[in-house]
Amino acid sequence: MKRLYLQTYGCQMNLYDSDRIARLMGQEGYVTTESPEEADLLLLNTCSVRDKAEQKVYSLLGRWRELKEKKPGLLIGVGGCVAQQEGAALFRRAPYLDLVFGTQNIHKLPRMVEEAAAFHERPVALAFYREPSYMEDASGEPIVHGAKAYVTIMQGCNKVCSFCIVPYVRGRELSRPSGAIIGEIEALAARGVKEIMLLGQNVNSYGKTAAGELSFPELLARIDAIDGIERIRFTTSHPEDLSPRLIEAYANLDKLCEHLHLPVQSGSDSVLERMRRGYTREEYLDRIRRLRARRPDVALSTDIIVGFPGETEEEFGHTLEILQEVEYDDIYAFGYSARPHTAASKMFADDVAGEIKRRRLDEVLRLQAGISRRKNEAWIGRIEEILVDGIAKLGRGQMTGRTRANRIVNFAGAAELFGAIAQVRITGAGANSLTGELIGAQ
Ligand code: SAH
Ligand code: F3S
Repeated sequence: MKRLYLQTYGCQMNLYDSDRIARLMGQEGYVTTESPEEADLLLLNTCSVRDKAEQKVYSLLGRWRELKEKKPGLLIGVGGCVAQQEGAALFRRAPYLDLVFGTQNIHKLPRMVEEAAAFHERPVALAFYREPSYMEDASGEPIVHGAKAYVTIMQGCNKVCSFCIVPYVRGRELSRPSGAIIGEIEALAARGVKEIMLLGQNVNSYGKTAAGELSFPELLARIDAIDGIERIRFTTSHPEDLSPRLIEAYANLDKLCEHLHLPVQSGSDSVLERMRRGYTREEYLDRIRRLRARRPDVALSTDIIVGFPGETEEEFGHTLEILQEVEYDDIYAFGYSARPHTAASKMFADDVAGEIKRRRLDEVLRLQAGISRRKNEAWIGRIEEILVDGIAKLGRGQMTGRTRANRIVNFAGAAELFGAIAQVRITGAGANSLTGELIGAQ
C-alpha cells in the first residue's frame, strides 16, 4: 500500500482541489495518511495570495527535505498558486522536489507521479486551458462532506484589482457548462446532500464569458428548483457584479441562504481607485442598501486590506467608517503585501511600515469584534435551523453547525446528528460563534 500525505494552504478552492487530488491518487492506490513520516508521496497545495502564505510553503518544504534525506524514495510534489507562479524555478529553490503542477493541471497528477517514480523525471505542468472541461472530475464523483457539498462553477478571474495575483495564477475566467453543474447537483441531492456551496473566484460573473450560457441569477434559480437541496451558498463575489437581478434572487429564491460575502477592501474612494476595484464607496453602499431593502435579514461579511500603498490615516479612517456604517457580521482583514506580476507592485512602493499595518489591522479587528459580538447577541433567544457539519472543537458531546445566515452554533448533541438539520435555541454569543440548546432534528 502506498501512502499520500497532503497538506493544503489557502482558500476553499484549494480545499476543493485537494479533495480532488486525494481522490485521483486514491484511484492510483494511494491511501491518505495523517503522518508525513510514513508517507511515500508528499503533496503540498499552495496559496500565494499574500506573502505570508508563500513563506509558509518554503518553511514546510524545508522540513520535508529532512524526511527525504532519511527516505530517498520519497516523492515530493508542489501544486496550487505558488507552483503556478514559480514553475520550474521551484526546483532551484528546492532541488529535492520531484514535480510541480499548476492550478489547472490536477488531472495530470497521476501520470506525473508515475513519471517521477519510474523514470526519475521531474515533470512540470503549468498549462492554462481555454475549455472548461478540465474542471470535470474524471471519476464523475462529486465531493461530499456530510450533508454539504462544494461545486465549482467557474475558475479564474477577469478583474484587474491591482493588488491581486489570482488572475495570474488561476488564469482567465472560465465558466463550467450549466448542464454539468445542474447534473452534478441533482446527483448530490439524490445522495442526500442538503447544502450546496458554489465555488469560484468571482461566481457572480458566471456565464459572462460563455456565449449562450445562463447568467448567475438564472443558474441559482435552476438550482433552487432541485428537490432535496435546502440551502444554496456561493463564494466569492465582486461588488460590481451584484446586479439588480442577483438582488432579486435574494428576494425570490427560498433556498438561497441569507448571507453574502462581498469584499469591499477599503472604505476610501482614493484607495479603491488605486486598487482598481471599479466602484466607489457610495456605489458599494448603494448596492448594500438595495440588497437589504429586498432581503432585510441578509447577513454580510467582507474582506479588508489595510496598509495598501500610500494609505494615509485619513484614508484608513474611511475603512473604519464603512465597517461602522455597514455593520458586517464578519470580516477577514489583511495587511497588504506586494505580489509578483500585480499592477500595484509595479506602480507603487509598499510604503506603509509594517508596524503601521499591524496597528491598523488591530484597530479594524477590535472595532469589528465589538460589532460582531453585538450582532451575535441579537440572536439569543431565537430558534434557528442549523445544518450540523461536525464535532465542535471545544468540549465533549458538543456538535457544531451553521445557521442559514452563516453563524457558527455549538450545542450539546450526539455525533449521529452529523449531516442533520437541527432546530436549536440560541442561548449564548461570543465574537465568533453562538451557543445553543438542541430542540429537534430532521
Ligand atoms: N475572489 C477571491 C479573492 C481572492 S483573494 C476569493 O475567492 O476569495 C482573497 C482576499 O485576499 C481578497 O479579497 C483580499 O482582501 C485579500 N488579498 C488579495 N491580495 C492581497 C494582497 N496582495 N495583500 C493583502 N491582501 C490581499
Ligand atoms: Fe482578485 Fe479582484 Fe479577481 S480580488 S480574484 S482580481 S475580483
